[in-house]
Parts: sequence; C-alpha cells; structure tokens
Amino acid sequence: MSEPAGKTREYALGHSPQELDRLSTQAKLLEPFTRRLFERAGIGRGMRVLDVGSGAGDVAFLLRELVGPEGKVVGTDRAAQALERARERAAALGYSNVEFVQGDPVELTLDAPFDALAGRFVLMYYPSPSEALRQLARHVRPGGVIAFQESDNSGARTYPPQPLFERLFELMQRAIEGSGAESRMALKLYPAFIAAGLPTPSIEAEVGVMGYQDAFVEPLANFLVQGLRSMTPVILKYGLASEQELELDTYARRMIDAFRAGGGILMSPPFIGCWTRKPDE
Ligand SMILES: C[S@@+](CC[C@H](N)C(=O)[O-])C[C@H]1O[C@@H](n2cnc3c(N)ncnc32)[C@H](O)[C@@H]1O
Repeated sequence: MSEPAGKTREYALGHSPQELDRLSTQAKLLEPFTRRLFERAGIGRGMRVLDVGSGAGDVAFLLRELVGPEGKVVGTDRAAQALERARERAAALGYSNVEFVQGDPVELTLDAPFDALAGRFVLMYYPSPSEALRQLARHVRPGGVIAFQESDNSGARTYPPQPLFERLFELMQRAIEGSGAESRMALKLYPAFIAAGLPTPSIEAEVGVMGYQDAFVEPLANFLVQGLRSMTPVILKYGLASEQELELDTYARRMIDAFRAGGGILMSPPFIGCWTRKPDE
C-alpha cells in the first residue's frame, strides 16, 4: 500500500525564534541558487505562485520579487509559529501581494489554479514525496511550472577533514533521519517527479564552497551551530550525543579555530533542483 501524501513527520528543527532567524540566514546563503533554479524553471512576471512549506517566508519573498507587483504569491506552512513570523515580515516590508495560509497544501482547498508551484527543503518531510508532488500538482494549471529544491545532507564535507565540522554534519543528518525525514531528498527528487506522473524534469545541482581564510567562516560556523542547537532536543531524544559532548556554547569557537588552523576548505551539501511543466489536459 502506498504511503499517504500528507500528514506529519516530526520536524527536527522546530520553530523557535532562533530557528526562524537561522532559516533566514540560510535563505541569504542559498538565495542565488534558488533564484537561478526558479528563473530557469520559467517563474516570472505576473505569475501566481504557490510556495509549499514557507517557514519564515524567504522563498515566498524571493518568488514575489520574480513575479513582480502584477503577480501574487501564496505561501503555506503547517506551523503557525512560522507563518506568524512570515506574516510579520511581509507586513513590515509592505508586501501586499504575498499571502500566507496555514496548513498542508496537499490537504488545502485553494482558489483557482496557480501558474507555478515551488518549494525548498519541504518534500523531505512528506512520507511519500512523489505522492505529495502528485497531489500538490493539482493546484497547478495545465502548462504551469513545478520547481523544487532539496539538499543531500550527507554531502557536506571538509578537507582536510575537520572533526568538529564532520561530527556536526553527521549529527544533523542523523537527527533528520531519526525524526523520519529524508535527509538525502536531493538525490531522490528527479525520480519522485517521474513517480508522481509528471513529465521528465530538468535537473541541476549547486554547491557552496569556502576556504579557511574566508571572512564568512565565523558567521557560517555560528549558523551551523544554531542548526545543531535547534536539533538538540531530537539529538538527545535519540541518544545521538550528550549535552556534555556537544558543549554547544563553545562549539562554534572551537570549530572556527580548528578550521582556520587546518588550512583547508569546506563544501556545502549539494543542492539539487528539478523542474518541469504540468502537461496540458
Ligand atoms: C526547512 S523549512 C524550509 C522553509 C523554507 N522553504 C526555506 O527554504 O526557507 C521546512 C518548512 O516546511 C514546513 N513543512 C513541513 N512539512 C509540511 C507540510 N506537509 N505542509 C506544510 N508545511 C510543511 C515546516 O513546518 C517548515 O517550516
């Protein structure tokens, strides 16, 4: 029997204010990658776009820029705290053409079909990403764009290997898996589109890389440790590490010092994007 498209898996990161800040930092780092994907997919001016799993709203805000004032974005998330933040930000920025609706769009009834469906780091939380895609595509008009971006959380690495970075990457991957989400969703995105009955998608990968002298090492380390912090309840629940081992208050400092002394580089996990168009009926 196939798994249901919707329903929840545990969300390992939670939605604390610090975690929502972390999502926005992540969004800044990823903005060029996600923008390129959506542009290549054909999301552009005047379109009405549905964003799945908006979190703090960053993907919806990027889409808003692409569709311009004559377009419209509907962001969705099942978490009320996330949407509260997204709505506050939209109001502070004076965005009138972005609206947020709480719920899983697999289950939501939304007005009129959209010109495009988009999402980042969200299919990984569906028990069956292909079934979710099939259901989500119902919201798209024939000929409309479907574009998603996911990461392969096993793919981040340092060279020469940095034990604190490597341990952090490993713990985050295992916490995501422990909570039942798909930590390597990037690798499964292309077949998920096909299993959803969609036309063969285009596929591309992006990766970030940084050297030990880069000024951004420090903010990046702080950002990664905030991720570890957000996941600590899940890490402890599954016995993946103890608080004593983690020593979160000094983790970033120790990681930065070791990385700078090690003279190497750091690579982000690969981010894979797939896009296609819904067939004409
Ligand atoms: C990792 S965050 C990504 C947020 C945003 N897309 C970004 O890239 O900045 C994933 C978000 O998807 C939401 N989410 C997970 N499963 C969902 C579902 N079935 N329906 C709606 N939202 C969901 C979570 O609550 C969370 O806010």
